[in-house]
Amino acid sequence: MEALTEDDIRFFKREGYLIKRGVMDPDLCARARERLWDEPPPSMKKDDPASWVGPIKEDEESDDGENLKRGFGWRYRRLGREPWMAEMLPRSAFVRSAVDQLLGKDRYVLPERVRGIYCTLPQPEGAERKPRHLHVDAHPFSFAIVSYIDDVAPDGGGFTVWPKSHQKFFFDYHSRYANEPTPQLEIDRAEFLSDEENSYQTFGGPGDIVFWHHRMGHMASVNYTSQIRKAVITDFKLNDLAQLQEQPPGDDIWVDWSDEMKEIN
Ligand SMILES: [Fe+2]
Repeated sequence: MEALTEDDIRFFKREGYLIKRGVMDPDLCARARERLWDEPPPSMKKDDPASWVGPIKEDEESDDGENLKRGFGWRYRRLGREPWMAEMLPRSAFVRSAVDQLLGKDRYVLPERVRGIYCTLPQPEGAERKPRHLHVDAHPFSFAIVSYIDDVAPDGGGFTVWPKSHQKFFFDYHSRYANEPTPQLEIDRAEFLSDEENSYQTFGGPGDIVFWHHRMGHMASVNYTSQIRKAVITDFKLNDLAQLQEQPPGDDIWVDWSDEMKEIN
């Protein structure tokens, strides 16, 4: 059976993102939650939620790109190199079926690794709320998946998207994929940011994944709960992205996607 329904595809095309719940192997999610504690900041203890509150102590910060620790961010990238992490997400039967549907069979690079576990630490109690900000990623890709290996409550640092913004931002670049914005990008960005209601903050539980289009406006949210937000992220790219990024956007956002995607409106 195919992973995505027609309605899923219709939603993704219209909104620029799509949430599928509980599609990752629960045992692998549990393993990822466990392995996160291989190399934590020394004062953070797995069984002591009070020790999870950010920011990371200055003398426990780490510049190691494979296990970056600073402020409210802890990015345990080294784990993303282990094959079972890729089996949990990009190489799982569900995700492969979904990507076949979105980009077309054999038309994309099947990732051999994920970015690792990206944690957002809880804000201290009574922390002032920060306004939302929005960016579009600079590196070329087709779409990405943010997935959760643990519970992420509303307001818990879930990935925030600006629904439908891909329909604007796609045309605000000289290239389909490269980071060559036109002046319209800033105008549209300001428009989306003018009302917080324009954004949607995801939440969920272990095994939930969020697909999102490469030109979506998004942000990594602040975590106002007492749990650590733990996300696993991976990008998908068409095989010929290097050539395609020489092309202008044209008038069809879905020109490079699968026939199935093009047919569903
Ligand atoms: Fe980003």
